[in-house]
Amino acid sequence: MIEQLDSLSAEFVGALESLNDEAAILKLKSEYLGKKGKVSEILKGLRNATADERKVIGPKANGLKEEINQLVATKLQKIELEVINKKLEKNKIDLSNRDELWLQKLNHGGVHPRTLIQREIEDVFLSMGFEVLDGPHIEDEFHNFEALNIPSDHPARDMQDTFWFHDPQSDEKEKKLLRTHTSTIQVRGMRERKPPFRFIAPGTVFRCERTDASHEMVFNQLEGMMVGKDISVGNLIYFMKTLLKEIFQKEVEVRLRPGFFPFVEPGFELDIQCLICKGKGCSVCKKTGWVELLPCGMVHPNVLKAGGIDPDEYNGFAFGLGLDRLVMMRYGIDDIRHLNSGDLRFNSQFQAY
Ligand code: PHE
Repeated sequence: MIEQLDSLSAEFVGALESLNDEAAILKLKSEYLGKKGKVSEILKGLRNATADERKVIGPKANGLKEEINQLVATKLQKIELEVINKKLEKNKIDLSNRDELWLQKLNHGGVHPRTLIQREIEDVFLSMGFEVLDGPHIEDEFHNFEALNIPSDHPARDMQDTFWFHDPQSDEKEKKLLRTHTSTIQVRGMRERKPPFRFIAPGTVFRCERTDASHEMVFNQLEGMMVGKDISVGNLIYFMKTLLKEIFQKEVEVRLRPGFFPFVEPGFELDIQCLICKGKGCSVCKKTGWVELLPCGMVHPNVLKAGGIDPDEYNGFAFGLGLDRLVMMRYGIDDIRHLNSGDLRFNSQFQAY
């Protein structure tokens, strides 16, 4: 029996050698280890063996079983590896080669046009010595209104329909809100630095408004502020014109109208001629041919005071650029709602460059 077991082992190794597919290997295994397999058949003979013989044959047979299991496992692993390697070889891809067909078919992500323009504007202002600041979306009444010369009973609070909320976890009496303009960052910026200074602050703002082709509840502004000695409206106009020229890469028609904002005095509305309809009148410019783009003005003394700045010594200008409208003018987008739609067909038209 011992010899039989030895020769079975050699026979198995030989048979396994010639096989190369998983099913055949498993079949071979069961021919040896299955209930009616060759090893089992031999072990049946154990019944007639002496106790001494059993002591030797038992472990030997178990050893053979183990050996067969081990050989099968190793062989299967080897086959699997070969299959993987073959597949890898066949599907070899050169990622640096843009001509690869599948790479051409891939959907490329695009950078949102608002981000593209924001980056450009930041570059323009950085080159003119401005800092770029950020601020929180959730604000308090002080930063959104009071410090900007809009006390609680002031009718100007109604100009900006506000999303209010109250945190039930908080004992604070003070109500929180979603900032309605980036002017909140003006307040924070002023209180954190000493004049002279100049900064811009791009950011998302929120207003509880009915949406249409030119209004969204969630939109973006880019605030700017410059404070120093003897700053004039001339300085303000210079910076605004430089900005518009850089963005549109051409002179655009602008007009300055008086505008009321409690935090500036005098206040202006800087409009540009609608680039969608070239001034003829369309839904974006509400048929006027002009688009309000840049409310601005000289910072009100009360605002400087709230920012910890002495208005007798310093003055400055501020502006609040409507970023989304600028994007629409630049790319000829006729509905602001496209910008937040998350529609990939829209986004993918603007590639990063
Ligand atoms: N914060 C104003 C708004 O959102 C815009 C503005 C900013 C006007 C700075 C003047 C100066 O309506």
